[in-house]
Amino acid sequence: MVKPKSRLLLLLLVVFSVSTAAVFFVRTALDSCDSRRDEGLLRPAAKESGAERRSPLAFMRSKKVVLVSHELSLSGGPLLLMELAFLLRSVGTQVVWITNQNSIQRDEVTYSLEHKMLDHGVQLLPAKGQEAVDTTVKADLVVLNTAVAGKWLDAVLKEHVPEVLPKILWWIHEMRGHYFKLEFVKHLPFVAGAMIDSHTTAEYWKNRTHERLGIQMPHTFVVHLGNSKELMEVAEDNVARRVLREHVRESLGVRNEDILFAIINSVSRGKGQDLFLHSFYESLQLIKQQKLQVPSMHAVVVGSDMNVQTKFETELRDYVASKGLQDRVHFVNKTLAVAPYLAAIDVLVQNSQARGECFGRITIEAMAFQLPVLGQLLVAPQRSLWMVNSLLHPAGKEGVPLLAKNIVKLATHVEQRLTMGRKGYERVKERFMEHHMADRIAAVLKEVIEKKGPLTFLRLSSVLPSQTPWKQRLPILSRKDLWSHPLICTLD
Ligand SMILES: *[C@@H]1O[C@H](CO)[C@@H](O)[C@H](O)[C@H]1NC(C)=O
Ligand SMILES: *[C@@H]1O[C@H](CO)[C@@H](O)[C@H](O)[C@H]1NC(C)=O
Repeated sequence: MVKPKSRLLLLLLVVFSVSTAAVFFVRTALDSCDSRRDEGLLRPAAKESGAERRSPLAFMRSKKVVLVSHELSLSGGPLLLMELAFLLRSVGTQVVWITNQNSIQRDEVTYSLEHKMLDHGVQLLPAKGQEAVDTTVKADLVVLNTAVAGKWLDAVLKEHVPEVLPKILWWIHEMRGHYFKLEFVKHLPFVAGAMIDSHTTAEYWKNRTHERLGIQMPHTFVVHLGNSKELMEVAEDNVARRVLREHVRESLGVRNEDILFAIINSVSRGKGQDLFLHSFYESLQLIKQQKLQVPSMHAVVVGSDMNVQTKFETELRDYVASKGLQDRVHFVNKTLAVAPYLAAIDVLVQNSQARGECFGRITIEAMAFQLPVLGQLLVAPQRSLWMVNSLLHPAGKEGVPLLAKNIVKLATHVEQRLTMGRKGYERVKERFMEHHMADRIAAVLKEVIEKKGPLTFLRLSSVLPSQTPWKQRLPILSRKDLWSHPLICTLD
């Protein structure tokens, strides 16, 4: 008999070997900024009381929930929605999944994700058609994932949109300009609530919707993410970590005593891999100039996809070759599993540029593995999360010398590295576990489901003629005072 733990480890090794040979992975949209103290809305979770802890989502038993995703892929958004699906399934919720993608490529990735969902008892429905409409109209709750999923409402529900709006929770993970299109978000003011991963992103959305589109955000909940149970199991298993570390290092040609820095994001200029490599090179120069005694230093860039970012990827490789760093810098394709890499490295670098990330999930994942983080300053506008395990540097070229210094600092100060890592781990245990996320989400679902009551039968057409163009309706309908107006909230 194989014990569950060893089975998990075996599975990870298999996934690891497969993923290095195949393509996938991506945590694009989601890697992000922030983490402030949970203020206001959502109280920190109560202390965990052993294994029998009742799920905060228990009240969702036998409720019907429809999840609408803009795609089925290994990017951050869909993966999070899947995690929510499984959390809900674990308490007996009826969960229906809809992927609203024009042509879903039936590749290995979608196949395995669909399989995983079916295994968990999630029902899969085609995006279009009467069944999708009927199911949604009958559901207790509809979760739209990312702004783009908004396109599905008019396209599929048509005249049923108004009656569905009051039970929609809109989960938003992105912070980019091109999402602020009426085409995607015109219904946003009328849904029961929006759920956003960080305070910074929530602020940004509030500003942008107001200024660019003249619409108001609905009631908005900030819900920080948490690490999945699976990830924590590996992170807290010394044997698993050691085996994975040896395995990955061997595959890269890095020895156990070498120091390995990693940047784990989909490769693109916005994620700052180029500037990281410049800093890495500078740090080697510093070490040489100052004749410092440090173990051999390596860097690994996890998240390559030559087919997608050909120009940038080529630029990175050319840089590495021009500085003679081929033996020290390693590129790894996008992969399903980040855990093996987190087990193998010594320091995580988070160098997303400009506004950075909406939450930066890789950061809390690295913290689970007791890793120190070298982070771009703006990625962490709320420092409380980062200060415990991070050294920070500014964005852009100006950041390169400081990042280089920080790399040298962590390479030469083993004690500091370990202390930072330990503190990060403690922070994760306090605030960023799956059960914390479940508590936060449960509070939101409860509020949304309980609130929707009298609004369920709202007919927008009873307020304004349906032929009124959206542009004219929005400023009127998004006025908060109208929403509490008895005329509008009457049962139909
Ligand atoms: C990485 O991806 C490239 C192109 O997408 C492919 O040619 C290469 O074989 C992959 N490498 C590994 C180790 O799978
Ligand atoms: C929101 O807008 C105000 C005024 O335009 C500005 O001062 C503030 O910095 C903006 N906040 C964000 C997060 O963009």
